[in-house]
Amino acid sequence: MGIIEPVAELLRTASRPFRDAVAMPPSVYTSEAFLARELESIFGREWICVGRASALGKPGDYMTYDLAGQPVIVLRDREGTLRAMSNVCLHRMSTLLEGSGNTRSIVCPYHAWTYNLDGTLRGAPLMKETTGFCKEDYVLPQIRCEEWLGWIYITLDPERPSVAEQLRPLEGMIAQYGMENYAESFRETHVWDTNWKVLAENFMESYHLPVCHHATVGPHSRLEEMVCPPGLPAFNYHWITKEASLAIGNAHPDNMRLEGHWRKTTALLAIYPSHLITLTPGYFWYLSLHPKGTGQVHITYGGGLSPEFMADPKAGEYVSALKALLDEVNVEDRGCTEKVFKGLNAGAAKPGHLSYLERPIYDFMQYVAERTAGFDRQFAVAAE
Ligand code: FES
Ligand SMILES: [Fe+2]
Repeated sequence: MGIIEPVAELLRTASRPFRDAVAMPPSVYTSEAFLARELESIFGREWICVGRASALGKPGDYMTYDLAGQPVIVLRDREGTLRAMSNVCLHRMSTLLEGSGNTRSIVCPYHAWTYNLDGTLRGAPLMKETTGFCKEDYVLPQIRCEEWLGWIYITLDPERPSVAEQLRPLEGMIAQYGMENYAESFRETHVWDTNWKVLAENFMESYHLPVCHHATVGPHSRLEEMVCPPGLPAFNYHWITKEASLAIGNAHPDNMRLEGHWRKTTALLAIYPSHLITLTPGYFWYLSLHPKGTGQVHITYGGGLSPEFMADPKAGEYVSALKALLDEVNVEDRGCTEKVFKGLNAGAAKPGHLSYLERPIYDFMQYVAERTAGFDRQFAVAAE
């Protein structure tokens, strides 16, 4: 399938009014040509979250990431600054670091060219006779890296407005939670057999909670109280109130920031393209997605507690209970989203109408259509 068909179908679908909206066409999930377009115009240009800054707490802490086909190192340098740079050696172009860890320098596994944490070349063995070689000419290309409310974002686009600028309207909406002080207590990476957008959409709607999650969080969710306002240019969101399924679901008694209904309100945030955060008064968890082909998604998954629960003597217990619950919830979501991807590949696949509770999916569709196909998004309310 060429690119023309998915793009034309997507533009048609994105143009429908919300009251008659349907899901995105199957081709945008299954077409290789469309994935190539997404890598170029979405993952190659947007800010992508790689996790919490606290995961790189000490100088020399690093993680690696494949961003739109570019291997990237994200690290904390000796001065304590977060940096991102190319993870490709400047000699014969091997990749350098793998996974995550702590290191004093970046040593290439092929011939041991060795780089400082700022990307400058510290040394290269047995290069003395190559008189044209000058160590100072070699610096690993730097990649933009910003921290926002404790999150690390990277982008390959030198021109993209800063994360803080893009997310300023969101910052105002969620200031009362103090998300920057929430502490990450676990972080993992996973690969599921579904398209990245299927999982992103799953996170954006709580319509599936009572059914897909009937064995875990479903019974605590009240769909009739759910509010799904229209999205903004860089993100969409919805609020749910719930009776806590965990002791940490509602605000801690020592939490003086949250008042009234905020003490039991959860924010579901979808920061485009693929950073998905559940922010509750007592804990948070997140997924950050990157496509791995059309049929697989690479997931960074983490979470932890608000500062009051971290300071509580029972913090350890709370973290274990949270992790156990989220793991179960994720198994349920994995089942549902992998089934959707199977269905999308079937000849019989045909998009149906969206519920008003799936408003964020409609907004996400228009975002994808804008980035990949030049769709003109309209916002009723000004961004700020
Ligand atoms: S490719 Fe890195 S040192 Fe040769
Ligand atoms: Fe879910």
